[in-house]
Amino acid sequence: TLPINCEPLKTLIRTVPDFPKPGILFYDITTVLKDKAGFATLIDAFAQYYIGKEIDLVLGIEARGFIFGPALAYRLNAGFVPVRKPKKLPAPTARVTYDLEYGTDALEIHLDAIQPGERVVIVDDLLATGGTMQATVELVRQLGGEIAGLGFAIELDFLKGREKFQQYDVLSLLHYD
Ligand code: PRP
Repeated sequence: TLPINCEPLKTLIRTVPDFPKPGILFYDITTVLKDKAGFATLIDAFAQYYIGKEIDLVLGIEARGFIFGPALAYRLNAGFVPVRKPKKLPAPTARVTYDLEYGTDALEIHLDAIQPGERVVIVDDLLATGGTMQATVELVRQLGGEIAGLGFAIELDFLKGREKFQQYDVLSLLHYD
């Protein structure tokens, strides 16, 4: 049960067929972000869900997790940690390779980004197959963080990515089937 009804945000999400590849229907959040009320609703909905859960860090996954992760971290008085594509982070990193909806990639995190036992929320714009989030969960486990929640703006229910995260608290503000 969400404290904030996000359904009206669906009218602000732009769908783009065949991007970035033929057959992929892309859910574009830039049209929500540029809307004053839309962006506020998105951040407010995340914040209301995680406030009071003693979150130490918000992790944002490159690239679109960088857009609202920091705004949420600010609202929770938490720190922000970027999870990045390979060879972007300057200091020593942990790396995990993963499959995604279209292709394969890897993600990295600074080894000193999380102290053992710190409570972490991981955010991204979209849950599709869950490969990207699963890799990030593995990075947090390697560093000894405690996963307090996984937050997505959009979940593509038909891809069943959620099944990868049955032991976690998964919040998706919007669902598409
Ligand atoms: C998209 C999206 C998620 C991921 C979800 O990122 O922003 O990070 O795919 O897919 P999954 O659940 O199947 O792993 P994309 O691969 O487009 O990378 P980008 O944000 O760097 O453009």
